[in-house]
Amino acid sequence: MHTTPIGKFIAGIPKAELHLHIEGSFEPELMFEIAKRNNIKIKYKNIEEVKNAYRFNNLQEFLDIYYAGANVLIKEQDFYDLTYAYLTKVNEQNLIHTEIFFDPQTHTDRGVEFSTVIEGIQRALEDGRTKLGISSKLIMSFLRHLDEAAAFVTLEQSLPYKEWITAVGLDSSELGHPPSKFQRVFEKAQEHGFLTVAHAGEEGPAEYIWEALNLLNIARIDHGNRCLEDEALVEELVKRQMALTLCPLSNLELKVIQEMHHHPLNTMIDKGLLVTINSDDPAYFGGYMNENYYGIAKALDLSKEQIYQLAKNSFNASFLDEETKKEMIAKVDEYYWKHG
Ligand code: HPA
Ligand code: ZN
Repeated sequence: MHTTPIGKFIAGIPKAELHLHIEGSFEPELMFEIAKRNNIKIKYKNIEEVKNAYRFNNLQEFLDIYYAGANVLIKEQDFYDLTYAYLTKVNEQNLIHTEIFFDPQTHTDRGVEFSTVIEGIQRALEDGRTKLGISSKLIMSFLRHLDEAAAFVTLEQSLPYKEWITAVGLDSSELGHPPSKFQRVFEKAQEHGFLTVAHAGEEGPAEYIWEALNLLNIARIDHGNRCLEDEALVEELVKRQMALTLCPLSNLELKVIQEMHHHPLNTMIDKGLLVTINSDDPAYFGGYMNENYYGIAKALDLSKEQIYQLAKNSFNASFLDEETKKEMIAKVDEYYWKHG
């Protein structure tokens, strides 16, 4: 795919990622290395066995394996290595900005300090800025299968690190855990100055997207695929130019879609929705940003102009200030003039 004209175009275009779980970028090779130095046993004998286990029928089957993988992360250096490995990888893919989710409760519930997690991630993001030239923002996600009280504790723990965190989000098992469950936590988070986002409409119904909009006051929807089941909702999202962070390979691997050519991207674009392409959990779903762009471009026969538009959307939908957005979009324009 890298060798086709569209593949080369995708590989080179400057782009931003807006939906990436740092724990989902944990490659098996690094998992084994960190497990070894922390003296932790993993239940797989080798990397091949791990990869064979990565077959999912739904979100929950994935989450069970994703949380198990995160168990080996103990020390600040582990969180640094995890984050820096992701940045190194996407730097090769011409990513110039990324907005990263982290799930503190996945770690604090195992006795790892909040400070250990965020200090390791933040140190890697700073090195990413100075050594690789990648700009970044951090989004703290609450695990929605846990209760409101636990989310409040996490919010409290995050306050000393407020300057490092741009937004709060909501992830994990969607069905049965509607956004309304976290309305009060999100209100409090906004009082502290955090922006808000939420996973909604990945497996859950369109109603959850309404709740995320109206009760959580979100600035962006993560996934949002099922908005198409509700015409009035689509109209509202178009009117607000509310961005959707789509994740094509994730949708395929978690059976949100059965085939890549069933992906609703084109329908969404035709309706005027602001859509972006992202990787979600690249170590588990078979690809980082470029592989997601290739996968969908191939299945839906996207043109260079459409790829160019998606790359621009990724900056427009980001939490960068307007000035920086302009500077980065100018780079995308320049690339399109040269290679479009
Ligand atoms: N959905 C919900 N929770 C998640 C995901 C996802 O795609 N990835 C990691 N946590
Ligand atoms: Zn996600």
